[in-house]
Amino acid sequence: DNVAKKRQLYEDVLKQVTILKDMDPYERSKVADCLKTKTYANGDIIINEGEQGNTFYILIDGNATALKDNKVIKTYNKGDYFGELALLKNQPRAATVKAQNNCQVVYLDRKSFKRLLGPIEKILYRNVENYKKVLNQLGLDTACIGGN
Ligand code: CMP
Repeated sequence: DNVAKKRQLYEDVLKQVTILKDMDPYERSKVADCLKTKTYANGDIIINEGEQGNTFYILIDGNATALKDNKVIKTYNKGDYFGELALLKNQPRAATVKAQNNCQVVYLDRKSFKRLLGPIEKILYRNVENYKKVLNQLGLDTACIGGN
């Protein structure tokens, strides 16, 4: 059936996602059930800095960059995720994310993100410390990271 097909389709992809690797297979299959997919072309804006955000993204094909004040703060490859910060901290998008070529993403809405990725929230937060370091190194304002 459809559900089985979708799980099958995303199983291999999700196993390659750093953040989801540590999840048990059952929980990961729940994530797979809720994913939707979208494609972007070179130059398309996936996330707009300063906007309200309700979506968490995983890049499953192509390349993207995160930008702040016209500086590249991160490059994304297959298996990387982004857009978690606005959802974790209930704040506007901290950076812009732009497609560098044809990209395919899978995404979760805020509700699914909270429900399904709640168990790995600590791991997500750990990475936020790296964001702060990167911004500091580039001389950018870290206020967008938020408190705690
Ligand atoms: P969010 O703020 O929701 O939207 C922009 C995304 O850029 C952010 O989540 C992170 O996933 C990502 N990002 C990558 N590097 C950084 C960084 N140094 N600071 C903040 N966000 C970053």
